Amino acid sequence: MLELKNLSYHVPAEDGTELTILNNISLTIPDDKLVVFTGPNGGGKTTLAKVIMGLVRPTSGQILYNGTDITDLDITERARLGISYGFQQPPRFKGLKVRDLLCIASGNEKLPKDICCDYLAQVGLCANDYLEREVDSSLSGGEVKRIEIATILARKGNLMIFDEPEAGIDLWSFARLTETFGDLHAKHAATMIIISHQERIIGLADEIIVIANGAIRHRGTKDAILPLILADTLGNCTLGKECLIK
Ligand SMILES: Nc1ncnc2c1ncn2[C@@H]1O[C@H](COP(=O)(O)OP(=O)(O)OP(=O)(O)O)[C@@H](O)[C@H]1O
Ligand SMILES: [Mg+2]
Repeated sequence: MLELKNLSYHVPAEDGTELTILNNISLTIPDDKLVVFTGPNGGGKTTLAKVIMGLVRPTSGQILYNGTDITDLDITERARLGISYGFQQPPRFKGLKVRDLLCIASGNEKLPKDICCDYLAQVGLCANDYLEREVDSSLSGGEVKRIEIATILARKGNLMIFDEPEAGIDLWSFARLTETFGDLHAKHAATMIIISHQERIIGLADEIIVIANGAIRHRGTKDAILPLILADTLGNCTLGKECLIK
């Protein structure tokens, strides 16, 4: 179980005041749930994911994972506990091949080709085309994204966080990926937090958390939340056409 208690994150603003990025977020996610974080751009979703992974240190608040306080643990220690995070914009690793990344992620330097192939197939990639490719700038954005997701699957953590897995991914691969998330969830393979704006992914969620202005704006099931998101979207701009005229 993941428990976030009164998490806040502030950064110094240019005018000398403080900018609030996360504002007193409290949230409990039971084991094996699939939770989707959604909400407007700049709302704080990625920051919250990075706080959970240990990439960003909260200004205040506490994070408990299976009852242990992990607030002061670094990313490596959290990874050892089974927490993994796929970046919104994944880094490239010049000099490392896709096979190397899968081996490192799985902790088995001799990971058999058929198992590598299975992880890549789950994100819609063919091992014959990709296993020996370097993870450098020769790969497209969507390819790097899918390879990173495959490494998270290979890591077999018990808390997987995916940051907009749909970003840059074509419709065919996206359908395959949605199926993969659905299968993992059906097998109770892990707790999953998926940051997404996609209705198909939102449709897989046990719970949807809408994050806006650094806080939880709504939470609930798809049926309860989708109408609220729609109402927010339509009602957001109070200026309407006047805004465009300016
Ligand atoms: N270190 C920082 N310094 C200043 N502003 C920051 C910092 N980190 C995050 N922000 C700001 O905090 C807000 C939340 O950013 P975050 O990346 O968490 O949003 P998001 O909900 O993931 O958005 P998106 O849907 O566009 O990915 C943004 O306005 C961002 O510019
Ligand atoms: Mg983001």
